[in-house]
Amino acid sequence: MTTAELTDQYVLGNYGRFPVAMSRVEGGYIFDEEGTRYLDFATGIAVCSLGHCPAVVSEALREQGDKLIHCSNLYLIREQAELARFVVEKMMERAGKVFFCNSGAEANDGLIKLARKRAFDKYGKEAGKNVIITCKQSFHGRTLGGIAATAQEKVKIGFDPLLPGFLHVPFNDVETLRDAVSDTTAGILFEPLQGEGGINPATPEFIAAAAELRDQHDLLLMFDEVQVGSGRSGDWCGWRTILKGSGVVAEPDAVSWAKGFGGGFPIGAIWADEVCAPALGPGTHGSTFGGTPLASAVALAVLEEIENSGALENVKRQEKVIRDKVEAWNNPLVDSLRGVGLMLGFVICEDAMTGVHGFSESGNAPALFLVNKLMDAGMLTAPAGDNVVRWLPRLNVTDEEISEAFDIFTETLDGLSG
Ligand SMILES: Cc1ncc(COP(=O)(O)O)c(C=O)c1O
Repeated sequence: MTTAELTDQYVLGNYGRFPVAMSRVEGGYIFDEEGTRYLDFATGIAVCSLGHCPAVVSEALREQGDKLIHCSNLYLIREQAELARFVVEKMMERAGKVFFCNSGAEANDGLIKLARKRAFDKYGKEAGKNVIITCKQSFHGRTLGGIAATAQEKVKIGFDPLLPGFLHVPFNDVETLRDAVSDTTAGILFEPLQGEGGINPATPEFIAAAAELRDQHDLLLMFDEVQVGSGRSGDWCGWRTILKGSGVVAEPDAVSWAKGFGGGFPIGAIWADEVCAPALGPGTHGSTFGGTPLASAVALAVLEEIENSGALENVKRQEKVIRDKVEAWNNPLVDSLRGVGLMLGFVICEDAMTGVHGFSESGNAPALFLVNKLMDAGMLTAPAGDNVVRWLPRLNVTDEEISEAFDIFTETLDGLSG
């Protein structure tokens, strides 16, 4: 049976998949079963932060795999504690405590529980201080907590009754956010740079207002850094990149990570500051697989390599190269470029798409149509919403790969716009 036939017969059909099966890799390239080579600017949707099968990951897997793979959280785990220290001292540079889990949705569930439990401990059940405010176009994952938090109707349909206690406000709308906050608000949660919703950065004013409301209403300000975090912005913390030069200084009370945090190994994490962390005391939260010796050793190897190899500086340098090239290129299909670091979105001009051969007949949204065309041309990208084509190359992407990406991208789009 072919991979397509096997999948069709045995795998749950919950994903819309491209009809190719990936089978092996070389640095920034991935090959399908037919041997077709793709320049990978999707990286498993911002997961393979150091490219495919980097030596540090393979070595950490081998070394820890021979030593201790799994050990229950009934016991102390050295590798987990070392990884937590890296998060606190290198990534956050702020005192706090870390909890490990297995995915982004699970990390956000942890944040939601943290905010509610902390308000419960402080104000009691009667206060009803349990509402979490999130933003329109957000994406926080597919668990019941994740879809309740996600302010996109399409992820919620059919799953009623949803977890109650969520309010959604328009992203970057300071006035509506102010109106939405009340004594029953336990937390505000948003992505400093929305990924799935279309590469939308939070404005410094919005972040500042959320921090001010936190102080006024004694709630938790929580950032979902699952996609933009772990170095993708050119800093460990996406919000610090976004706030740089704005004059706004605002720090969250808690943060979630996953995706690039493990460089391809499944792991998620939350950091909570010293004051709120005790809310999740013994027996309140947990995960069998959270922070195993193997997951922790691999993630630490990945994060140390990002730090020591100059990958963060590379992100900033390559972002500038890309921006300069885009500036000098003019194509009617592209309206603008949004994002930070190597989480960039080409915003597609819908009007210009109507003249593109095959677009209307495809029945696809503009971004998906173009992602398909780029794939035909040998480059993987990812749609973000209907109108944005995302570039998410590895953080250690080379000059040659950027140059090749630009050639494929401009030739494909110039060819389509005629
Ligand atoms: C910002 C953000 N939060 C949460 C998630 C959910 O992560 P996971 O798929 O690992 O559960 C995603 C996934 O795309 C994401 O982009």
